[in-house]
Amino acid sequence: MSGIDRAREILAAADRVSVLTGAGISAESGIPTFRGAGGLWRNFRPEELATPEAFARDPELVWEWYVWRRGRIGEAQPNAGHRAIAELERRAPVFTLITQNVDGLHDRAGSRNIRKVHGDIWISRCSRCAYQRRDTATVFTGVPVCPECSAPLRPGVVWFGESLPRAVWDDAERAVHGSQVLLIAGTSAQVYPAAGLIDLARSAGSSTIEVNLDGTAYSGAVTVSLRGLCGELLPQIVA
Ligand code: APR
Repeated sequence: MSGIDRAREILAAADRVSVLTGAGISAESGIPTFRGAGGLWRNFRPEELATPEAFARDPELVWEWYVWRRGRIGEAQPNAGHRAIAELERRAPVFTLITQNVDGLHDRAGSRNIRKVHGDIWISRCSRCAYQRRDTATVFTGVPVCPECSAPLRPGVVWFGESLPRAVWDDAERAVHGSQVLLIAGTSAQVYPAAGLIDLARSAGSSTIEVNLDGTAYSGAVTVSLRGLCGELLPQIVA
């Protein structure tokens, strides 16, 4: 039996499904991945801008980068990979999508039960108090200020060195622990939480299916590892 057939069979037989996605699933929509080519803006690597230190040093620069990214994301469309995952949710009685992506393309493809473990680029939140709002501005007009406490607003994403939102992470762990299968798509699985959730699924005895362009540290450990494009493979294994 081919890997694709095996993955399809595992997914069709499961009624509790979790999915973990990373930047690779949005690559075919034209959004650069973090560790691949095209991830640079004005020669900065994401690791140089997506940190609390960078924001403290130069909030204008960091905001300018995020507003530029919002512009690119706003012009992008969800692809066949995002749509296949939305279709999987419509079929599975119990379903959770855990994404490391902040771009919102899963929402736009029709996914509903989503845990955004790295936040959402379309949220701006206060760097001091609990204020937050949806923010669709794609033109940089300066650092936005909190209407409640006047501190600078910041993008509603998790930066390098920051911890993940507790409740979101707890939900993600609970979902993976309670699922019969974890489908992992488009993530290098190099950083927490990806790695931790794959280990959790394996120790819970769940099936694990990986769909990724390149091999990862988990390719040898998962039940089925499929090498290729999310936009091509995901529709095939959900079909
Ligand atoms: N289809 C499938 N896989 C793809 C595709 C594609 N079209 N394009 C790229 N990939 C794969 C790459 O081979 C790579 O293994 O997707 C993976 C993307 O890995 P990363 O760039 O490391 O992205 P991700 O795993 O989401 O990074 C996790 O790290 O930088 C932080 O917070 C950031 O959320 C991000 C996190």
